[in-house]
Amino acid sequence: MIEFEKGLEGIVLRPTLSLQGIRMMATLRTRAHSLWAPAKINLFLEVTGRRADGYHDLVTVMAAVSLFDTLHFVPLSQSQNTTQLTVTDVRTRDCSGMRTPLPANVRDNLVMRTIELVRKHSGVTAGIAVHLTKRIPLEAGLGGGSSDAATTLMGLNRIWDLGFSSARMMEIAAEIGSDVPFFIHGGWGICEGRGDRVQRIPRSPPLALVLAVPPQGLSTREIFSEDCVAPAWNSDMVLPWLRTRTPMEIGRALHNRLTNVAIRRSPWIRTLFAFLKREHVLGYSMTGSGSACFAICRHWRQAWGLAGRLRCQNIHAYCIHSLPPPPSLTSAA
Ligand code: C5P
Repeated sequence: MIEFEKGLEGIVLRPTLSLQGIRMMATLRTRAHSLWAPAKINLFLEVTGRRADGYHDLVTVMAAVSLFDTLHFVPLSQSQNTTQLTVTDVRTRDCSGMRTPLPANVRDNLVMRTIELVRKHSGVTAGIAVHLTKRIPLEAGLGGGSSDAATTLMGLNRIWDLGFSSARMMEIAAEIGSDVPFFIHGGWGICEGRGDRVQRIPRSPPLALVLAVPPQGLSTREIFSEDCVAPAWNSDMVLPWLRTRTPMEIGRALHNRLTNVAIRRSPWIRTLFAFLKREHVLGYSMTGSGSACFAICRHWRQAWGLAGRLRCQNIHAYCIHSLPPPPSLTSAA
């Protein structure tokens, strides 16, 4: 039996076991995995139409960035066919625990939904304990929940030895949320449809970025509920993203159709833009449906200075970089 114990640093796994149980725990522990779940930014986002299913058609260029949640997976014995999720929020130091059957307020948690969906598609009933360490800010347009879901899917595929191909994982990911398929590969990608049809961008320059997260978050659903469709859309606009561009070219091409709607709901974004304009960065934009904004800097010295000045204004600021494509894509390119 494994008991979860709440401590200052989160949840401590405390086995209370017989000798045989300890041997079994050792086996289970060797099958434990810790995985990183990166955030993303949208370098380009155009809303091209409203769909019959209530979603919007998008064309967006996304890049995974070096701000991570972490997920630690511990398989439980066959007899413990429960799902346990514990969460530590690094920013607030909050700890909470969840287990099935879930209380109503956490049924929407994407990690829990992913585990249930994987069980449905694979027939696996074995128990699993997941500890999620949250660092990616919420309601910021950084895709933290979607990335946690994609990482859970990939983690379970490995731990439960499911043999799902990438294509199969992309299909399951699309059932969970529009941004989830992008995180199956990470790196850079052009996403179309709801955002779930992903075309990889094999080569991409490393970008020195500052991410600014205002105190007021924004709900994706609410931003999309307003009129945000582009009056005219020329698909040639996205083609240059497929060739390698310099950070300067990328800075000039940043675009996000949802910015005006987001500014109406959060004046922080206008304030941040005014601040970033004075900094002579290569470019700045809002990510996703907001409220976080990012700047592409000329060099790290500029990024560190800018992040410091933002923090003096009580804005959460992170110096981060874009992540390269996964090795399998680089070698294929
Ligand atoms: O897919 P996901 O659950 O992340 O989307 C959250 C909400 O954002 C949807 O319920 C929908 O209202 C809106 N949305 C949209 N078009 C998209 C993606 C999201 O209208 N392409």
